[in-house]
Amino acid sequence: MAAAAIHCGKAKPFPKMLDGKISLVLLLLLLAAANAAPSSIVGNLRFREAPQFYNSNGCPPPINPSTEYSSSCPSSLVDVAMTLDVAYLRGSMAAINSILQHSSCPQSIYFHFLASSFTIFLNSTISSIFPSLPFIIHPFDDSLVAGRISTSIRAALDRPLNYARSYLPRLLPTCVNRVVYLDSDLILVDDITALAATPIPFPAALAAPEYCNANFTAYFTPTFWANPSLSVSFEGRRACYFNTGVMVMDLERWREEGYTERIEEWMDLQKRMRIYELGSLPPFLLVFAGRIAAVDHRWNQHGLGGDNFRGLCRDLHPGPVSLLHWSGKGKPWSRLDAGRPCPLDALWAPYDLLQPAFPIDVDS
Ligand SMILES: *[C@@H]1O[C@H](CO)[C@@H](O)[C@H](O)[C@H]1NC(C)=O
Ligand SMILES: *[C@@H]1O[C@H](CO)[C@@H](O)[C@H](O)[C@H]1NC(C)=O
Repeated sequence: MAAAAIHCGKAKPFPKMLDGKISLVLLLLLLAAANAAPSSIVGNLRFREAPQFYNSNGCPPPINPSTEYSSSCPSSLVDVAMTLDVAYLRGSMAAINSILQHSSCPQSIYFHFLASSFTIFLNSTISSIFPSLPFIIHPFDDSLVAGRISTSIRAALDRPLNYARSYLPRLLPTCVNRVVYLDSDLILVDDITALAATPIPFPAALAAPEYCNANFTAYFTPTFWANPSLSVSFEGRRACYFNTGVMVMDLERWREEGYTERIEEWMDLQKRMRIYELGSLPPFLLVFAGRIAAVDHRWNQHGLGGDNFRGLCRDLHPGPVSLLHWSGKGKPWSRLDAGRPCPLDALWAPYDLLQPAFPIDVDS
């Protein structure tokens, strides 16, 4: 299995595994999105191979990971979609690891990754870490959305890939009717099959945990609320906040209703007048709030990354936990590396597949 190294934007072949472990020397370019100079070398990442997890009795037969995705879909029990980029790779790998570990039919989960750069490297990295994972990488063209993005309060929210979730119904093969979209900064501690089976009664196209106690007004600017032709769009629905990091999507209904285009229209308006401050969330609220199917709150214990400015430690919301989500500025891997973890970061650590790093000297 060939791994690859990236250095200064060029992918080239890299010698294979050492002692059955994967040696990925990743001279990682953190892009502008991560608030770093484009050429800064941040780390030397080596991942280990994840354990293999097997289907239990009563599961469908495992998906053959080498099946080519053509006109028909592999017979998956659950389809999962995630974005994939170099900056959040460690988070994504931990998330996949957690999904497989807590599923009773891990070999029947099909992964759809959206990536806009370093696709060959990401492809070989996943194959090395999860040698029998059934997955496909769908290329995401940043320019599809780049011209529609307005700057928000946090640079990481403005990465084009952050908007890729709105395009899943276009990017995924039409034989996929339902997908579970997941962010990269989360782990599951429960069987994803239960989340994927969430009923989405007609006419909803989306299911997510709703938070009706959150102050909905705060997600839009006074300009928005002061303009009746805009605020009327929430009339007649009980609009509640939901987090777009965990969503079950009915792709067929979404395609029929043209929701991607409706999201784009709001983003285009935001370019002309500032109607919200956050990134990809508000257009979702504009199109879907009050029109989604509810999911139990256990499936998105979000906010563990703290707020968007300082990333302070946060506690769990009351109630059971099936999914922990480090939304907000602080990420468990960076806080652990910095030696200043929050108490709940200890729950993320067991899913981390990074090998202890060999620091490289970097002139800074
Ligand atoms: C990933 O690698 C496989 C072979 O291992 C290849 O068939 C597939 O086309 C690659 N995907 C991308 C997006 O490069
Ligand atoms: C909700 O947010 C708006 C705008 O930030 C604020 O003016 C209002 O006082 C808040 N309402 C409550 C109940 O906190």
